[in-house]
Amino acid sequence: MSGSTLRYGDKVVIVTGGSKGIGRGIVKVFVENGAKVVFCARGVAAGQALEAELNRAGPGSCKFVPCDISKEEDIKGAIIAMTKAMAVDESRYQVRVNCISPGNVMTPLWEELAGQTADTLATIKEGENAQLLGRMGTEAESGLAALYLAADATFCTGIDLLLSGGAELNYGYKSQVP
Ligand SMILES: NC(=O)c1ccc[n+]([C@@H]2O[C@H](COP(=O)([O-])OP(=O)(O)OC[C@H]3O[C@@H](n4cnc5c(N)ncnc54)[C@H](OP(=O)(O)O)[C@@H]3O)[C@@H](O)[C@H]2O)c1
Repeated sequence: MSGSTLRYGDKVVIVTGGSKGIGRGIVKVFVENGAKVVFCARGVAAGQALEAELNRAGPGSCKFVPCDISKEEDIKGAIIAMTKAMAVDESRYQVRVNCISPGNVMTPLWEELAGQTADTLATIKEGENAQLLGRMGTEAESGLAALYLAADATFCTGIDLLLSGGAELNYGYKSQVP
């Protein structure tokens, strides 16, 4: 497909934490849909390997930049509020600002954390059963959700897209007092 028929042809995308997991899924989907993606992470080897792999595949392109975005935990709770505030501020320029709240997505981080528990497989099974859909999300589904917001959700701004398999509708045992 040419740049004009791809869903995100020749547009520029910036992804922080893009060499693995959810970020990798987003980088990959946008390159597959024609975007020019700049992504960062701390680990140079993984970043450069992904850059080479995706540039070989195209049709978009990507550029890896080593970068450490530290203290992420200090800003996570503020992302939805920041998204809404930026949506208000940028609307006069016709710029939309949206965010995604992921539930359990199978990524290297999830594998690593499960591997630190006494029973890795049981922990992963528990993670899968936390969703109504009985499985975890994938990196590719994370990418598609981001592409949807960027390319198709043209009347959405200031929203938080739950990427969670319905987990919040039925988290574990729910007491029904009395
Ligand atoms: N997976 C889930 O189920 C889930 C659910 C809810 C929320 N989240 C959140 O979603 C985010 C991504 O999760 P994930 O599971 O995709 O993690 P992941 O598999 O560990 O991937 C994280 C990516 O971010 C990069 N990164 C980490 N620290 C960085 C830093 N200080 N500066 C720049 N890049 C950095 C990593 O590369 P380097 O290590 O080389 O820097 C890697 O590319 C995390 O904030 C996580 O807490 C995940």
